[in-house]
Amino acid sequence: MNVQRQSIIALVPAAGSGTRLMAGVDKAFFELEGKPLLFWTLRALERVPEIDEIIPAVKAERIAQTLDMARLGGLKKIRRIARGGKERQDSVSNALALVPAQAGIVLIHDAARPFAAAAFISRLIAALEPPFDGVIPGIMPRDTIKEVASSDNGQFVLSTPDRSRLVAVQTPQVFRCQAIKAAYELASKEGFYSTDDSALIEAAGGKVRVVPGEPGNIKLTTPEDIVTAKEFFRSAWAGPLGTGTLG
Ligand code: C5P
Repeated sequence: MNVQRQSIIALVPAAGSGTRLMAGVDKAFFELEGKPLLFWTLRALERVPEIDEIIPAVKAERIAQTLDMARLGGLKKIRRIARGGKERQDSVSNALALVPAQAGIVLIHDAARPFAAAAFISRLIAALEPPFDGVIPGIMPRDTIKEVASSDNGQFVLSTPDRSRLVAVQTPQVFRCQAIKAAYELASKEGFYSTDDSALIEAAGGKVRVVPGEPGNIKLTTPEDIVTAKEFFRSAWAGPLGTGTLG
């Protein structure tokens, strides 16, 4: 008998303004190699065999453009687009509302990380097993991290956490559908906001597994990151558009 597996849906918050990029355009629509950053991120997810559908969340005025981009770029897993919200969490929440309750797994990935390789994403999905509600990629920090606070005289140190107990967290993050839906509902009820989806699972008492992240899976944030990304495209994507080997 052919047992159908539960569907895996990827959500891509892409409705930020990205002012730190100082590019004068919404970050997800900043062009790299002639295509918006969001296109490269969606293409990376499109190439993951386990993913059935991809739902980006973009500002209302970008919805038509995003649908066109997906169609012209041959991104077949994009069938619906969510409206972006005020904060990242609101954008994810709008996209999550489009996910049917019977879906199996929800993966959430920032538009600002175009270099997540397919094998890496498959590895994260495979790591979601009981008793965990979610899997996140973490990188051990090279630097010592200080907890700080602000005062009239600038920042001062509150504490120095033991570095061996810290990880810097990336996306994609992978969740059991029921768990992330419940965590988002609870956060909404309690007015709890975070820049990290797994923090909502933690707040709901769920269990989050950490697996090694990838140093190359950078989040494009500053103008320097754009320089790095252009170099990356030049070296790793040798060949005309669409024939790159990444992912
Ligand atoms: O600003 P930051 O880089 O942390 O944003 C992370 C991701 O969340 C980006 O891909 C951005 O487009 C998205 N975002 C969103 N809606 C917002 C703010 C940010 O979808 N209101």
